[in-house]
This record gives sequence, structure tokens and C-alpha cells, in this order.
Amino acid sequence: MSKREQWGSRVGFIMAAVGSAIGLGNIWRFPYVAYENGGGAFLIPYIFALLTAGIPFMILEFGMGQKYRSSAPRLFARLNPKWEWIGWLQVMVAAVIATYYIAVIGWTLNYVTFAFDQSWGEDTKAFFFGEFLGLTGGPTELGGVRWPIFAACLLAWVLTWVACVSGVKKGIERANKILIPTLFFLVLIFIARVLTLDGALDGVNYLFTPDFSKILDYKVWAAAYGQIFYSLSVGFAIMVAYSSYLPADEDVNNNATMTVFINCGFSLLAGVMIFSVLGNMALETGSSIKDVAGAGVGLAFVTIPKAINSLPAPTFFGTLFFLCLTMAGVSSHISIVEACVSSLIDKFGWGRRSTVSYFCLGGFAVTVMFTTGAGLYILDIVDHFINSQALLVGAFIEIILLSWVLNLDDMRKHVNAVSDFSVDKVWKKCLKFVTVAVLGYSLLSNLHGDLTNGYGGYASKDLLFFGWSLLPLCIVIAFWIKNQESVERFVRVEEGAK
Ligand code: ALA
Repeated sequence: MSKREQWGSRVGFIMAAVGSAIGLGNIWRFPYVAYENGGGAFLIPYIFALLTAGIPFMILEFGMGQKYRSSAPRLFARLNPKWEWIGWLQVMVAAVIATYYIAVIGWTLNYVTFAFDQSWGEDTKAFFFGEFLGLTGGPTELGGVRWPIFAACLLAWVLTWVACVSGVKKGIERANKILIPTLFFLVLIFIARVLTLDGALDGVNYLFTPDFSKILDYKVWAAAYGQIFYSLSVGFAIMVAYSSYLPADEDVNNNATMTVFINCGFSLLAGVMIFSVLGNMALETGSSIKDVAGAGVGLAFVTIPKAINSLPAPTFFGTLFFLCLTMAGVSSHISIVEACVSSLIDKFGWGRRSTVSYFCLGGFAVTVMFTTGAGLYILDIVDHFINSQALLVGAFIEIILLSWVLNLDDMRKHVNAVSDFSVDKVWKKCLKFVTVAVLGYSLLSNLHGDLTNGYGGYASKDLLFFGWSLLPLCIVIAFWIKNQESVERFVRVEEGAK
């Protein structure tokens, strides 16, 4: 087998890891999760989650990937051949996310062009759901492909294809070295300008004014941990794949800590960006910020365009905002696809070019479903179930196996031997107890919620077909791939051995 590819430099690796972590979730998810969960007071559980779960989990995944120089399935197979399927379960989660994540990038690309003349008009809600998405009556009423979305998704898949097919150093590293500094630059320009607008500081104050009555609510703590896991791309094969391209003597602890802090710092910047715009909008329209703030898809594609209409330079702000969303999305999508591709290459020994090409082609074929008039419904259900069930199951089993069944001390010795600073026993305790408890609790409460309340008011048959079926399907496929002949015998490497 050919030698494993490697990152060209430490900066290149950090850019790629940060590019993976910073995604759509930082820009539209963090601000409203923070605001809904106590504003400024949310930052306390958030920072606690970052220190007790985010950094420890990132160090663990960077260390595992680097030590075993393997994508997730091969890594688990090396620890114990029976565990290979866990890696494939995580890869399946990544593969499903890859197909719909790009649909949102398809929307943002369209909105970059709409921003030129604010063609979303005054009624941004009717425009988004009606004219643009052509939303039908339900998930099974497809209503035909929306061609502008289809074309943008095709373009986005091609961008990912170019980055992944060109290899780790020449493609992924290079793309992130352009995308991430540009993204920070654009966001800072946006903030510098928007903060000078009337009402902007009121918006920021609103986001960060603490509501301490929420701090004892366990749901706020669960939300903080959920946001940390979602945003850091840990637990679903991505960071393991990226760190498998690290040189054997490259630092782990410092790189992981930097990645987490840069990602979370960016989330705070995104919060300032969004709430400055909302603050200005509230002032202009004489309403309260509470009334103008929306969540998720509605925030990015309905509220922000509406707010942009009333800004002094709407074309400038609109283009900038949707360009930022697009760049954050593309750099994450590249990492999601790479997690799948590297696993297939490790297992079957296929060439990078053909693996990336077939994967992107297959992925695009599935994405077409999300470009129909029912796309948003299907995306909403798939996104909810894959994140609240399959992703958590994969991450939970991973952490149980690595921290309870195996001995984390071997991994601790490894990461400390290569790193600028060392982690002590607290790191181990955070993983063994805090991370396990939070993941286990989130999984159980999600299952309970989905079983008792359903989701989003959708019909049970739609939830069964697009939602509940995902976890069993991912597990069946994971076992099926595991049972296929590998290019090399996935030899068991005892923990502690090189
Ligand atoms: N970590 C990526 C995001 O935040 C997937 O969107």
C-alpha cells in the first residue's frame, strides 16, 4: 500500500480542523441556542462544556487518529476487529449529513446572488418558503426539482470534489488555507461596520445579558454540551480522519486546544454579528429583539435578509453574510466527505480519484431529493434524527469503548509524549465520567422526547420512513461493510504498541 498522505504543515492541519469545526452550526445555531438558554449566563455552561468535554474529546480523537494513522473503521478494527462496525456507523452518519448539509450550502449560494439586488423582497418569509423552496404540503409530496437549488448543489459538490480529489495537502489543506482566513476577515469587516449602526449594541447586550435564573436548569447544561459536540465535529469520524494525516511527532494537546478555542471564539463573533443586525432591525421597525430573533433556517434565510433590507448598504452586507455562510459550510462539507472517503480507501485500497468521484456522484444523487419542493421537510426530519440518535449512539459507544473498556493511560502517555504541554488524570476523568454522562443523558432524553412527542408535527409514517429508519439502516450497512473483504488484514494492534 502507498504511504499515507500527510499535512504539509502544522498551520495547514489547524486550518483544516478549524475549517471542519466552523460550519453552518456556528453562524446560525450558536447565537440562538445561546440566546434561548440564558444569553450571557449560557456562556458559563458553554465554557464548562468546552473545558470538560470539548477539549478532552478533541485531544482523544487527534491522539487516536495520529497514533493509529487510520480512519475511524480501521482504527476501531485495530483495537479489536469486532469493533470495526462502530467506525462504519460513524462514517454512515457522516455520509448522511454530507448529502443534506450541501443542500443548505446550495441555498446560501443562491442567496449570495439574491443579495446583489435583495431579490428576496420585503416578505422574506413568503419568498423563502414559497418562491424559492416551492415548499409542498408534506415530506412525501416531492413537487419537482427546484433547478436553481439543484444547480447550486451541483456546484458545491464539484467544489468538494476538487478539494478531496486533489489530496490532503494539495487539495484540502490548500482550500482551507484560503477559506478560513478569508472567512475570519469577512466576518470582522462585517462586524466592524455593523457595530456602528444604531441599535447594534442593544442587540449584542441582549445576547450577552445574563439570565441567571436559567443556570440551574439542567436543560441549559445539556444544550451547552450539545452545541459543543455538534460544533466541534467530534464523534463522527471526521477529526480521526484528519488527524490520521498528522506526522507521528506532531503536537496533539496544543493543536486540539487551539482548534477548540478558535472554533468557540468564532461562534462568539457570529453571535455578535447576528445580534448586531437584529438590534438594528428591532430599532428600525420599533419592535423588540425578542420578537425579531428567529431560530435555525428561519434566522438565516428569513430574519437576516429582512434585517439586511433595512441596513445602509444591503448589497454589501447581504453578499458578505451569505458568502461567509457558504465558506463555513464548504470547509465543513469537505471534512465530512473526507471522513467517508478515507475510510473507504483504507478498507478497500481504492484510488483516491475514483473513490472521491464515485462518492460525490452518489452523494449528489441523494442530494437531489433535498432540492425538491419537499426538500426542507425531509432535511428537517433527517437532520433531527441523525443528530439526536445515530450520531450520539456512535459517539457514546466510542467513548465507552475508549475510556472504559480500554485504558486511557496509554493514550495519555502517547499524547503527552508528542505535545507541547501534558494532560493529567483530570483529562481521563472528564472523558470517563463527564463526557459519558452527558452523551448518555442526551441520547436517552432525545429518545424519550421523540417517542413521546414525535417531531415537528410530522405524520408518524413520515417520521418512520425518513427518521426512525436511519439508525437501524446505518447499523445494518455498517455491519455489511465490516464483513466485506479488506485490502489488508486489519491487524489488531494492542494499545500501547506503535
Ligand atoms: N461542525 C460543523 C458545523 O458546525 C458540522 O456546522
